[in-house]
Amino acid sequence: MSDYFLKLATPGVQRLNPYQPGKPVEALERELGITDSIKLASNENPHGPSPLALQAIAEQAPSINYYPDGGGYKLSRRLAELHGLPSECVTLGNGSNDILELAARAFLTPQHSAVYSQFSFAVYPIVVQAAGAQARVAPACPRTHATMPLGHDPDAMLSSIDDDTRVMFIANPNNPTGTWLQPEALRGLIEAVPGSVVVVLDLAYNEYMDAALRIDIAGWLQRLPNLIVTCTFSKIYALAGLRIGYALSSPEIADILNRVRQPFNTSSLAQAAALASLGDAQHVDASVTRNNAGKRYLMQALDQAGLDYLPTMANFIAIDLKADAQPVYDALLRRGVIVRPVANYAMPHYLRVTIGTDAQNRRFIAALADAMGEAL
Ligand SMILES: Cc1ncc(COP(=O)(O)O)c(C=O)c1O
Repeated sequence: MSDYFLKLATPGVQRLNPYQPGKPVEALERELGITDSIKLASNENPHGPSPLALQAIAEQAPSINYYPDGGGYKLSRRLAELHGLPSECVTLGNGSNDILELAARAFLTPQHSAVYSQFSFAVYPIVVQAAGAQARVAPACPRTHATMPLGHDPDAMLSSIDDDTRVMFIANPNNPTGTWLQPEALRGLIEAVPGSVVVVLDLAYNEYMDAALRIDIAGWLQRLPNLIVTCTFSKIYALAGLRIGYALSSPEIADILNRVRQPFNTSSLAQAAALASLGDAQHVDASVTRNNAGKRYLMQALDQAGLDYLPTMANFIAIDLKADAQPVYDALLRRGVIVRPVANYAMPHYLRVTIGTDAQNRRFIAALADAMGEAL
């Protein structure tokens, strides 16, 4: 391939490593000529969306000849109500990914830097580099850390801030590690960040965390004017394919995010499905219960197999194979099981597996034993 146009792209884009998504089932089946494969690679909710969301999509479908309500009035109002905030605090995004990018576009330039932890979500380096800004990657806790191996280290994150820093990204819990900060430590970290640094607190997996670890978002926003909280309908609400997420922030920051947002960044189907999902607390509770049961099953099975893994508060587990994980990943693919190698996160010994349905979890554990026998 010629690199003529690459040389014309901005320096940030030239250095950018594209995001590597989980392998789609269709691609694997096409390549290997197999059927009946399962994907545990992208931290989706394996139990599917709320029936209320499906019904809302069906009801909305005949009107897709019209543009959506760009600001998402009804959904924003409902989200604001649920969080106890004015609706001017809500910004809708094409997935929460969109919000991460809006924050970078709004606050970063080649003269600025962003801080995030080593081993944190792969989209942070992408949006920072695309804006031409510098990344300051704070060392994570060591693998030998007593409670949170490879987790965010608040002191290291604070000392990575310098005069040029405009944004800090914090994923809680973090992907791909699953690790988290206790609310007091998280609060202490954000309070210690200078007011000129916008803190993007990414709560994509918030609903999966134990209740005691979840924060009072509205209360924090009132006290911390430089805070943006991002949330998504892709995980617990099981709407990943529709692409919808949102930010909560001060009205002033929301106004800034809305200036860089595409006018119609969320579709009418996505808005309708998200709104309906918010009315189905039972779906959320059932998804949490099933995720916790799946997590217990997988952890027990991994313990029995003598395999190490990182602590997790999310819907996935990072398993430490203590050897190059790529051959095991490939051997799992041949058995129709797609997980996620995380060498691109500088974690080449780990495989990240999404917690699936009971049947998927059992199939993964059986396939893992076979794959390790073959590959290691
Ligand atoms: C930590 C984290 N943040 C944000 C996202 C983006 O999700 P979405 O754009 O689907 O809301 C993900 C997706 O995997 C994630 O793991």
